Amino acid sequence: MRIVLGIESSCDETAAALVTSERTILAQRIASQDEVHRPYGGVVPEIAARAHAERLAPMIEATLADAGMTLDDVDAIAATAGPGLIGGVMVGLVTAKALAMAADKPLIAVNHLEGHALSPRLADATLAYPYLLLLVSGGHCQILLVEGVGQFRRLATTIDDALGEAFDKSAKVLGLGYPGGPALERLAREGDAKKVPLPRPLMGSAEPHFSFAGLKSAVLRAKQALTNAAAPLAYTDADIAASFQQAAIDCLIDRTRRALAGVGAVNALVVAGGVAANTAIRGALEGLAAEFELPFIAPPLTLCTDNAAMIAWAGLERFERGQSDPLDVAARPRWPLDPDAEAVRGAGVKA
Ligand code: KG4
Ligand code: ZN
Repeated sequence: MRIVLGIESSCDETAAALVTSERTILAQRIASQDEVHRPYGGVVPEIAARAHAERLAPMIEATLADAGMTLDDVDAIAATAGPGLIGGVMVGLVTAKALAMAADKPLIAVNHLEGHALSPRLADATLAYPYLLLLVSGGHCQILLVEGVGQFRRLATTIDDALGEAFDKSAKVLGLGYPGGPALERLAREGDAKKVPLPRPLMGSAEPHFSFAGLKSAVLRAKQALTNAAAPLAYTDADIAASFQQAAIDCLIDRTRRALAGVGAVNALVVAGGVAANTAIRGALEGLAAEFELPFIAPPLTLCTDNAAMIAWAGLERFERGQSDPLDVAARPRWPLDPDAEAVRGAGVKA
């Protein structure tokens, strides 16, 4: 049995975890920075980096203590090396390098997206390659064919906003604060999804990609109409939330169905990333998987949003295949899973 220490610091969660090759999470700690960034309505990169720097070293110490271990018991150290907010990524990666050097352990530089993409295999030992993965987070919205460790074929991506970003921005418009995805899902439960007609960008399109910017703007217009109306309108904030969520689900299902129809044989339909915590989205994807007579696999909620167990696991998958990285490995603000995929306009990519 091998044990890997995982470190995550690419956005606004500082996290450390100890995971075994037998899929046991021996210990894990996560500190959210929601409170730190809430006054600004979004993540402030410089503040995030400082918070990671303050919290990470004591957190690693505490995680080892939780498992009753020291660095001597660890076989390798894995840290997110990108993509993400570069200041935070550097804090985590430099810490991992220092520990690897001091304890003379191998270092594994993990792609944060690969962490999300392989997390379902940590949760479910039966999940074998290849599988079709819907990766939906605050920064990404992609459909990937996962053929193995480091072997990804990107079948679709967003040409503008990521899905989590659309949830967060729509939640902000509805005054739900930051981060808005979970709050929007709660509000949607009280609303009627048929009350507010909203667009479903690219639904039915021959091209494979996603688009959510038009949907997000329509939410803004619906809310403005509600705010500015002289007489009460026939819908509420909850109806906007429910209608938004349904439109987003319709787009997701349409695009994923298209990908499933064209991809060839896969072992499962899998969802990962922060938005995979959404119960309505999980339910809709489960129905889609049944249509294709495939198992549907979604990791538990704690493994969906950013965490270090998934980084440790991706590190383990690499380590067990004999891979590790030199101590001068660079942090990468951009790091696509499929470098051969054609560039499209999209999150963080200027057209
Ligand atoms: O994977 P993640 O923790 O961070 C990134 O790598 O982006 O994903 C965070 C995103 C946020 O946009 C958050 O609003 C969204 O996941 N999210 C949700 C839910 N829980 C988290 N979106 C919709 N419904 C949820 N229940
Ligand atoms: Zn993430």
